[in-house]
Amino acid sequence: MKSRKLVYEGKAKVLYEGPEPGTLVQYFKDDATAFDGKKKAILEGKGVLNNRISEYLMTQLTQIGVPNHFLRRLNMREQLIREVEIIPLEVVVRNVAAGSLSTRLGLEEGTALPRSIIEFYLKDDKLKDPMVTEEHITAFGWAGPQELDDMTALAIRINDFLSGLFLGVGIRLIDFKVEFGRLWEGELMRIILADEISPDSMRLWDLRTNEKMDKDRFRRDLGGVTEAYSEVAKRLGILTELANTERKGPVLVK
Ligand code: TMP
Repeated sequence: MKSRKLVYEGKAKVLYEGPEPGTLVQYFKDDATAFDGKKKAILEGKGVLNNRISEYLMTQLTQIGVPNHFLRRLNMREQLIREVEIIPLEVVVRNVAAGSLSTRLGLEEGTALPRSIIEFYLKDDKLKDPMVTEEHITAFGWAGPQELDDMTALAIRINDFLSGLFLGVGIRLIDFKVEFGRLWEGELMRIILADEISPDSMRLWDLRTNEKMDKDRFRRDLGGVTEAYSEVAKRLGILTELANTERKGPVLVK
């Protein structure tokens, strides 16, 4: 096989040069990290599951007109994506209090929020991804006012759509994180959804039992991480059978 040029290696994914200009190959690793990389593990099969779940969600979002970087899945761990200039912000949308919001404001986890809340964090591991305001973002030029408006509008649409989609399969979308990038088309630039959408970047609770089906299982040492991700994939119709009934690993269908 031809050796490909590595473009960027992150904690859970690797980007390689794509086959055509303006494309990249996004490879999903099994590595899991939390607390800005301080906690680490390899979770066998996680990359395969996240590749499929992210493919599915991005494809659904394309169908409702949310522009994103996904082009097509290449294999179990790789997808072809559009190359974008990543905006160095994590955009978090919350529907229910959990995680850092609960800690910061003393809200019991599981408390429904009066309305969905959007927060921005600066992508900078050294600074531990600090929360930033729109003032900081525009003053320091991480994104312009129009870009902020575009990201906010897209984040709200993504939240509305994904909340409904997950509700339909018995899952509550508690919160999630997305990243956006600038796509240049000649002189024109537009903001599109990038990165991934997977149980690594969302909180998903079973509607009936409130059981966690996301990366909090890893962060909080609850065990059964990939089994939970498999269950998410199964409910979305990506997996035909439960991966954790036998020690065979995920069974994937087209
Ligand atoms: P938080 O409650 O820890 O701030 O997380 C909010 C949401 O963002 C949650 O769904 C998990 C996701 N998230 C990431 O995807 N990456 C991160 O680095 C962090 C801190 C959170």
